[in-house]
Amino acid sequence: MNVQTEINKEKEYKQLLTARSLYMIYKGRAELASVVALKSVSLEINYGDFIAIVGPSGSGKSTFLKILGGLMRPTAGSLVFEGVDITKTPEEELTSLRREKIGYVFQEGNLLPDLSAFDNVNQSMALNGISYSYRKKRTLELLDLMGVLHRKNQLANRLSGGEKQRVAIARAMANNPRLIIADEPTGNVDFKTSVRLLELFKQLNMDTGMAFLIATHSSHVAGYADRSVELRDGLMLGEHAKGIDLSELDASRMVIMDADKRITLPANVLEQMEGVGSLWNIDVPQKNQILLTPLDLSEQVSAEEKQVRDCPVCGVENPISNKICRSCGASF
Ligand SMILES: Nc1ncnc2c1ncn2[C@@H]1O[C@H](COP(=O)(O)OP(=O)(O)OP(=O)(O)O)[C@@H](O)[C@H]1O
Ligand SMILES: [Mg+2]
Repeated sequence: MNVQTEINKEKEYKQLLTARSLYMIYKGRAELASVVALKSVSLEINYGDFIAIVGPSGSGKSTFLKILGGLMRPTAGSLVFEGVDITKTPEEELTSLRREKIGYVFQEGNLLPDLSAFDNVNQSMALNGISYSYRKKRTLELLDLMGVLHRKNQLANRLSGGEKQRVAIARAMANNPRLIIADEPTGNVDFKTSVRLLELFKQLNMDTGMAFLIATHSSHVAGYADRSVELRDGLMLGEHAKGIDLSELDASRMVIMDADKRITLPANVLEQMEGVGSLWNIDVPQKNQILLTPLDLSEQVSAEEKQVRDCPVCGVENPISNKICRSCGASF
């Protein structure tokens, strides 16, 4: 690998990016209802992490990536990048941070269609004050690394889906970012190319400490990640360790306490419980153990019944007979 970076994992900060209690509400226009796309989602990303974001369509993966990449501001919550809260950073500073420290690869391809493959990569370094000779050398090196050097003069809109994707990755890596954010990066490429891209991501990750955050529907892609974060309906359901099988999420899920000290239970676990409205006793028999026991059905008094049984005047429990309180005589 001849791509060098200056990333020093331990140098200054322990964490690269910390997201706390992120909410994203897309405000509905006219008759459209607002969508709460993220609900109190938190994540810590360290230097050198390789993380997959998994979850069904519409669960909030792309929204989460756009916010983590500083492309969209969350409705609420904080985002700290190398010690700086970027939810409060002015737009120009955020733009330089994005340009210097984060690389993006999107499914739809984020290339400039009227520029050649070469210019797309080269131009991404121009704004960072890098000399032309270095930019040229690095652009050729990256296109070669991605296997698209022979297409360097082709306009981006004349490249195939897979070629666009590879040029987009070369562009994303050009400035030696700390973090590469990729939304379904292998969506448009065949399996063989996808393996090659992922091997390359992994190698870059190990050699340079570049962190990767990848949203995916694919078990194969998630299989490369050291941990996978699972979203559903905008909630973070849990994390999975290495070697995730997306068809068996339930077996490998670890639920996490979020920044608000809440634990969200997965839908399939809730389905196995007694059903909506059931009551549970909660006990912590020892540290790190939670015991939920269903209350006896006879003890499960509906709120309505309870109101009738407890006298609202004297407060004595269970005194009411024939709509008269046997304790204080109040009638209802
Ligand atoms: N610009 C927008 N305006 C309004 N609602 C949006 C917008 N973008 C996304 N949403 C909604 O937010 C929710 C999360 O969308 P998001 O694109 O983040 O999901 P996703 O997990 O990336 O889905 P997919 O796997 O299909 O790419 C969905 O209900 C979606 O309809
Ligand atoms: Mg998406």
